[in-house]
Amino acid sequence: MWVGGCLSISKKIFVEPLFLEWIRSNSRRTAVGLDLDLEALNWCLEKNISRVGADGYSRISLFHGNVLQPLEAKLVNFEPQELISNITLQEGKDGSETCALESTVQVGSTADDKCMKSLPLPPRDIVCAFNYSCCCLHKRAELVLYFKHVLDALSKKGGIFVMDLYGGTSSEHKLRLQRRFANFTYVWEQAEFDVVERKTRISLHFLLQKQQKKLRHAFSYSWRLWSLPEIKDCLEEAGFRSVHFWLREMPDTEEIRTTEGFGEGRDVKYEEVKSFQQQDAWNAYIVGVV
Ligand SMILES: C[S@@+](CC[C@H](N)C(=O)[O-])C[C@H]1O[C@@H](n2cnc3c(N)ncnc32)[C@H](O)[C@@H]1O
Repeated sequence: MWVGGCLSISKKIFVEPLFLEWIRSNSRRTAVGLDLDLEALNWCLEKNISRVGADGYSRISLFHGNVLQPLEAKLVNFEPQELISNITLQEGKDGSETCALESTVQVGSTADDKCMKSLPLPPRDIVCAFNYSCCCLHKRAELVLYFKHVLDALSKKGGIFVMDLYGGTSSEHKLRLQRRFANFTYVWEQAEFDVVERKTRISLHFLLQKQQKKLRHAFSYSWRLWSLPEIKDCLEEAGFRSVHFWLREMPDTEEIRTTEGFGEGRDVKYEEVKSFQQQDAWNAYIVGVV
């Protein structure tokens, strides 16, 4: 029996733990990913085969396409045998063996004959779009259309859509935040904020300590920073029965310009709220129920 999957605007590092956990924690689960960026999808295929094994891998389908026309998205093809033969056992620091893919060749290509509309995908239980992906859509009509496609993909028996959003006074001006981890530093850079269009450019840079390498603009996005009521209105207009907000205050950006790791406040819990007073920074999960 299909248990369903998750359709997301998926990308590299961010979505990976969620995807893996979903697949690993139940052998009947399937996952579906959709992204405009073929390179990101290839990376996901290469990276995860060694972590979920052949069985888990067979339950993941990645599509290259636009969330505004999901049915036209093309299945990313790969040769599992070829991938599996590329897995090598590597010795971890603690002496344990971990699987790793040696090859970094492009493994995925898209097939014109296999698009989402021609494949029998089961209704999805959870659709998620994290790391503020919805801000990549700039027009209200696009957001509503995207939410309608999400609703179409969801199971009518309790399916949910989960997305995230950030905000606060610090999100509406130029800002540079740095986080230091053991072997790399990560920089979130926010360009000037245009209040007429509510647009900014977000760039993520990485500094790899060991390799003394800088990856400037590793990711760069032109974003429209939506407000919570705009998202709620669009979800309702698309047909979601109810919309729920889970929020938490984030550490003050003036105090944490340079933070070690996740910094203090990592354990602050999200709470479901009906109202929330403006803060320097907040983060929200928005849940749309079918
Ligand atoms: C900020 S990233 C977040 C990725 C992902 N949700 C995660 O948690 O890792 C936004 C992603 O949305 C993809 N994207 C933007 N517009 C899209 C569209 N119209 N259709 C499909 N993917 C899109 C980009 O290629 C990028 O991978």
